[in-house]
Amino acid sequence: MDPINRITVIAPVNIAVIKYWGKRDEKLILPINDSVSVTLDTSIMCAKTTVCSRPDFSENQLWLNGIKTSFSNPRLLNCLEKIKHIAADQQSVDPAVLSWKIHICSENNFPTAAGLASSAAGYACLVTALAKYYKIKTDLSILARIGSGSACRSVFGGFVRWHAGVNSDGSDSRATQIADSSHWPEMRALVLVVSDNKKHTSSTIGMMNSVKTSDLLKYRAQYSVPKRTDKMCEAILKKDFAKFAELTMKDSNQFHAVCLDTYPPCVYMTDVSHKVIEIVHAYNDMCGEIKVAYTFDAGPNACLYLLQPDVARVLTLIKHLFPSSSPDFVTGLGDIEETETELLKS
Ligand code: ADP
Ligand code: DP6
Ligand code: CO
Repeated sequence: MDPINRITVIAPVNIAVIKYWGKRDEKLILPINDSVSVTLDTSIMCAKTTVCSRPDFSENQLWLNGIKTSFSNPRLLNCLEKIKHIAADQQSVDPAVLSWKIHICSENNFPTAAGLASSAAGYACLVTALAKYYKIKTDLSILARIGSGSACRSVFGGFVRWHAGVNSDGSDSRATQIADSSHWPEMRALVLVVSDNKKHTSSTIGMMNSVKTSDLLKYRAQYSVPKRTDKMCEAILKKDFAKFAELTMKDSNQFHAVCLDTYPPCVYMTDVSHKVIEIVHAYNDMCGEIKVAYTFDAGPNACLYLLQPDVARVLTLIKHLFPSSSPDFVTGLGDIEETETELLKS
């Protein structure tokens, strides 16, 4: 029997504290501003992707969350084409292997397309698995970016910055690590799933509409984000939680203001999301200092950042105010992982 050549990778989500919203190049996925994120531990939320190719496979196939899905997604095709091209250049595997069809099976253990960064974990996982499968040496952040912008940050653990870059070919639009996952061991993320429904407007479409119609987005990208990004990196390096939290909340609020300034408006947050904001501010006021930060991606679900000593109290408060809420996810920081490998012999 033929050996089964396959590889499995597990990748984390990352939740931005300075948001990416708006592209200057749709095809290459080049952003209009830098962004900063925190990569969460994979023990609770992750994407898991297995890739496998064989000479007897008759077509490329993709399964997403157990459902056979069309392989004709241009972003997926782009990533695969680019990786095979690099493998051919680097002669990293036998050329025959590159002609074999591939099967890709990917699953998220959390809601997909609900504003919890599934595209980030999903594409970071996919390109890492493919790059390992074809044994190429390349910048994984740039490859992941071609799948989904936010994915370029999930190839690193800890605190990560995506540099927008200036080159028109995207060669300098990549993420770097600000500090690794052990830098701030008390840091926790509490993910509150308000709704696991698929969002009505994907991030891709939402930000395209914002670039076309929002004046506030221009101001944000030109003035607010550059100042905030530098301050955020400094707060992370100094482990200044109050500053980190203030910048995180202000940036989330401005991002959602841009969504409302978009025409037609993109309304991602719900009454429950707004209630969470109110509770966090009330809690911080009661403590007399900022102990918790909220941030919302393009969806209603909250990600709260807080330090370990505050987790129990905040969880109790949330359970008290939302008694019927489902169990929430509390995680620390983490890194991308490879699980099972049975590689091709070259
Ligand atoms: P989210 O807020 O979850 O990132 P997006 O609208 O940005 O939502 O992206 C959702 C899309 O990302 C999905 O429709 C799918 O095309 C892609 N995606 C999500 N998870 C995966 C995965 N594990 N593997 C490949 N693609 C994925
Ligand atoms: C609000 O990376 O999902 O989560 O690049 O079109 O795939 P595409 O969009 P995506 O957008 C993420 C937007 C965000 C903010 C962020 O993660 O920085
Ligand atoms: Co996304």
